Formats: sequence, C-alpha cells, structure tokens
Amino acid sequence: MSKPKVLITRRWPASVEATLQQQYDVTLNRDDHPFTVDEYKQALQNYDAVCPTVCDSLPADVLNVPNKRCKILGNFGVGYNHIDIAAAKQQGLIITNTPGVLTESTADIAMTLLLMSARRGAEGDRIVRAGRWTGWCPTHMMSSDVTGATLGLIGFGRIAQAMAGKAHHGFGMKILYVKPSPADSTIVDALQAIRCETIEALLPQCDYVSLHCPGGNQTRHLINENTLNLMKPSAHLINTARGDVVDSKALIKALQEKRIAGAGLDVYENEPYIDPGFLALDNVSLLPHLGSATIATRTAMGEKVLANLAAYFAGQVLPDRVV
Ligand code: DGY
Repeated sequence: MSKPKVLITRRWPASVEATLQQQYDVTLNRDDHPFTVDEYKQALQNYDAVCPTVCDSLPADVLNVPNKRCKILGNFGVGYNHIDIAAAKQQGLIITNTPGVLTESTADIAMTLLLMSARRGAEGDRIVRAGRWTGWCPTHMMSSDVTGATLGLIGFGRIAQAMAGKAHHGFGMKILYVKPSPADSTIVDALQAIRCETIEALLPQCDYVSLHCPGGNQTRHLINENTLNLMKPSAHLINTARGDVVDSKALIKALQEKRIAGAGLDVYENEPYIDPGFLALDNVSLLPHLGSATIATRTAMGEKVLANLAAYFAGQVLPDRVV
C-alpha cells in the first residue's frame, strides 16, 4: 500500500524529519524558504496532509482552493491564528496543534524578557559592545527590582501559570491574573494568586504585565493607548503571546513618552516586520520569536504533529484536534 503524501512547509528538527521520511511519502522544504500563495494552494491540492507552522499564513482564499486532496493540517505550533479557522471548518479541514510541550520554554522566555527589561540587560550589552562603558559608578544604569514585585498576567492558561510559578517561587513575586472564570483553586492556592475581574482593574496594580492570551480578532489591540495609560509609569509590559494583541504604535508612543518604563517583546504585528519605532528605543528588549526555540521543545512539537498524523491515518481519535 502506498504511503500517505505529507508536506512540511519549513525545516523541522532533524530527528523528526527522519521519522517523517520513514513513515510517509514526505516532501521537506530543504532550503527552508517561506511558501508563496501558489505553493500553499498546490500543497493543498497534491498532499493528503499539509503541516504548516506559525509563520505560514493560510487565509480563506488559500484554503478555499478547488480540487483539494488535503484533509488535515498538522500545525507545528500551539497557536493557530495564522489559519482562517472558519474557512477551514467550512472546507471540512481538520486542524491539530501542539499544546503542552512548549509551556516551560515559552514561560522561560517571558521571564527572560521580564528580567532583561527590568534590569536593562539588552541596553547594557549594547553599551559594552559599543565601547561606551566608562566604568562602574553609583548612579549608572539604575533599574527596577524584580524580586518581591507584582506580576499581572493577562490570560491564565498553561504558559501563564508556568511563568507565575517561576515568578512566585523563584522571585517571590505577587501574582495577579485576569481570566474569564476563576482558575483551579489548587493552582491559585499554590501561587497565592489573586484574580482581577477586568484588565482595567489589574493594570494599575502591576509592576510587570505579561500577555498570555491567544491572538486573533477578539484580542487584537487589547493593549492600546487607553490600557497603556492605566499602567504605572514604572511598569514593564512583556509579550510572548501574539504581536497583534498590542497596538505597536501606541506602545512605541508610551515608551517614547516614558508613560511606562519598558517592554520586552518576542512577538510582533506582521512578523518578521519590526516597526522601526522600536529599533530607535533603548527601553524595549526585542527577541525574534524565540519562545519555543529549544532543541528539546521543537523536537517535542514535531513529535506531537507525528502523533496527530499517525492517529489520523489510523482512523483514531486525534490527540490535539482544534477543528
Ligand atoms: C506557537 O507554537 O504558537 C509559538 O508561538 C511558537 O513558539
């Protein structure tokens, strides 16, 4: 019997690509180029399964291509806001994702950005490299304490809870969170976390605010001029969720006018485009979407896709079906 035809849109960790080659008639993207719209359409027409990732944009006009062979999109990533879910449903496409395995690594990057922003890490590195450091003095590059400060989490899913654990148990931080319904009492008790009814109630109380909600229309520009104005002038904003949760122009203005002290960003509106306004600022730390970028995590993400494909082709229940 011939093997199912599977297409992988970007390079994956070598061990996962090797397994794919054993199990499927797989086409890899050997030069790791971003696909064009035509390539996506042809992939949907010519393969049984297509495995995109978070940088592949799959809007309705791509998903609606006629004569589709593809029945399943095995997404490499937990977020799937790059796929038009309504169109996928309407086309009868199954979508799976990779939850659970990138929780700790993404929370680690959120903590990294929090520490970088608080302690001016990126700025200090730039000063040293540019030969602009003239030596220690009592007032040089003073910054903000992390230990004992208050961290507000917008969204309280797996990644937010993992960050809260690191912040509370590692740095003695007080944890506030916003979530539509109260979180599990065991988790809340262990973190001594306090729920706020609204973002507006949470923001003025926090020294650090970290975003952990999904992207998409419902959360687009949740952080905007009005909500930024509710933050303390000494506060820092951390975003490892999705770029469009923050209105970039409003954030740049708030940072320029020192209406907040700093920001740490791993994700951006229209990635990989970075608004030049950010590049001119010293009080923002910028990372290139590194949340899940450890060898172990990226391998585990690939293995999750493998498990979903295996279940699909065996006619079994899919472990991580989102549509
Ligand atoms: C995801 O999986 O959605 C992440 O953004 C990748 O790091």
